[in-house]
Amino acid sequence: MYSEYQHLIDLSDYPVSWWKKVVELGEKIYQSPADYAHVCDGKIMATLFYEPSTRTQMSFQTAMIRLGGQIIGFDNPANSSVSKGETIKDTTKIVSNYADVLVMRHPVAGAAKAASLTTDCSVINAGDGGHLHPTQTLTDLLTLKIEKQTLSGLTIGMCGDLLNGRTVHSLCKALSQFENNKFIFMSTPELRMPAYIKDIIKASGSVYEEVNTIEEVIDKLDVLYMTRIQQERFASVEEYLAQKDTYVLDAEKMKGAKKDMIVMHPLPRVDEITIEVDDDARAMYFKQAKYGMYVRMALIMTILSEKKSSETLKGKVYTGVRCDNPRCITNHEEYLPKSFRFSRDETLLECEYCDERKLI
Ligand code: ASP
Ligand code: CP
Repeated sequence: MYSEYQHLIDLSDYPVSWWKKVVELGEKIYQSPADYAHVCDGKIMATLFYEPSTRTQMSFQTAMIRLGGQIIGFDNPANSSVSKGETIKDTTKIVSNYADVLVMRHPVAGAAKAASLTTDCSVINAGDGGHLHPTQTLTDLLTLKIEKQTLSGLTIGMCGDLLNGRTVHSLCKALSQFENNKFIFMSTPELRMPAYIKDIIKASGSVYEEVNTIEEVIDKLDVLYMTRIQQERFASVEEYLAQKDTYVLDAEKMKGAKKDMIVMHPLPRVDEITIEVDDDARAMYFKQAKYGMYVRMALIMTILSEKKSSETLKGKVYTGVRCDNPRCITNHEEYLPKSFRFSRDETLLECEYCDERKLI
């Protein structure tokens, strides 16, 4: 299936050169934002946030305003006709006739992709359930570029909810495409990185290891990427409580880290980084959130200036085959064509919306 518009659903839909171009533009804008104050004059961006957000929503909105454009949208679907039962297809199709670009966050995996099949403007995925968060990854790449001056040869530790954390999924996919990056995953056995992400890392030639504590690896890291336990993705409060507070980065643990290690976190933080760490020069999370606005300015400019069409579904469309993931959009919006591709070893089918695997 093809769309007349260019979307950002997953960074992997683009070559690495495209991400680099966006990140480099983000850095230029960061250095002289006033030069870009009118590049989106007359343009309108819609933000459709079906799930809570502070940074992503407001940084996108300020990004568009700083580019000279204007914004519309909702951040509480209960106040929109979504509450009357309107489908994603209808809501996004309608709004795409009012706006030039639509930024969408949704609690269900594959929702932004589903929207991109039928909208009459570009769609940007601002987080789809526990699946992906590509614009956080652009933020993270700009942070690394400015603060570490490289995107290669890094030992990156990721800690916390690696199963449900969409930011670490997108970031692993991206960083594995740069040379000589090594990943160290710190999580409980229940919250390990999904197998499909680990397979992407392996296929890229990068390496990863999985450990249980921060203390055993902190001295090896160039970057420590902390994450929140994603309470909203757990089936029960008990399961969440069993994971909460397992990993807490504090000043004592920071003593074991390299002098030039940086601490990143997509935020919001709950209690996985103590407040005292904020005063450590290696704490980069507040700056990281600021860089997010500049890279989103770059992304909006790029998406609106490149008039390319895009291939929305590349897999085989099957009738009668369902995705096994209850949190996949195809199990919520029945009209969507189911689409699967083969896994790398050709033994499994992977849902094109949420990446869930099933036996052939
Ligand atoms: N804000 C990020 C996200 O929406 C991380 C988080 O919520 O923990 O994925
Ligand atoms: N990092 C991030 O996505 O933050 P919000 O959930 O506040 O948008």
